[in-house]
Amino acid sequence: MDFTQFKDQISKKLGLNLNGYKEKQLKRRIEHLMVSQGFNGFSDYYKALVNDEILTKKFLDKITINVSEFFRNKEIFDRLESDILPQLLKKNNRLKIWSAGCSLGSEAYSIAMILDKLTPNIAHTIHASDIDERILAEAKEARYRCDLLKNVSQERLNKYFIKDETKYQLKDSIKNRVVFKKHDLLKDHYDKGYDLIVCRNVTIYFTKETQNILYTNFNMALNPGGILFIGATESILNYSQLGFEKTSAWFYQKPS
Ligand SMILES: C[S@@+](CC[C@H](N)C(=O)[O-])C[C@H]1O[C@@H](n2cnc3c(N)ncnc32)[C@H](O)[C@@H]1O
Repeated sequence: MDFTQFKDQISKKLGLNLNGYKEKQLKRRIEHLMVSQGFNGFSDYYKALVNDEILTKKFLDKITINVSEFFRNKEIFDRLESDILPQLLKKNNRLKIWSAGCSLGSEAYSIAMILDKLTPNIAHTIHASDIDERILAEAKEARYRCDLLKNVSQERLNKYFIKDETKYQLKDSIKNRVVFKKHDLLKDHYDKGYDLIVCRNVTIYFTKETQNILYTNFNMALNPGGILFIGATESILNYSQLGFEKTSAWFYQKPS
């Protein structure tokens, strides 16, 4: 079995679309895992993987890469707070927001904290989704190691978290503002009517063609005037082809 056959079989068995991911990068990650677990070929690895829940879980962990933190790239979140969200709030006082590829929920919760400051009494809609059910369970639990909170101000730490011996528990006042669901960006239906879609550090794992499909889907999911917010190391060069205007680095707007 070669890598292409392995990918096809795994995609069918686990219901994933592995063809959307950058091939070289994906192959390197999977081979690394496979060899570290003592397998020396895709065929043996495949047979073991599909019959062993722990191996499957480890495989999925390797594909999904869940690194995240609160206010990741703080200066960009400052820009979101000072310019982008106030601009969106001028047009619409109740926003609908989606954190796509939300991992531990820190991105969605960071936005909920900003909105709690900007519009304390308004119940905005904040959706957060990920392909990885295990990480969604952690996101809903909302207990964090302190290194994920290094960009959270002391004021926000005091206001929104309770510290126990090892971790920080997010309070319900913010937790209850975010609705999590399982969603595969490569195959599931996209909801509509969003004012802000945040998809950061997710599409970097996908091929250019897949990225274009995703950005087009995000464009259709946004309201006119809505904003797509991408990761610090990302940029969309063909944004106008995909129906966006570039308002500033990392923020792309669907024309009104
Ligand atoms: C590196 S994390 C980014 C988390 C967060 N957006 C941030 O920037 O801090 C990437 C997330 O994308 C998710 N992901 C990978 N493939 C996906 C897919 N096809 N559909 C939805 N989420 C996916 C992973 O499970 C992971 O939690």
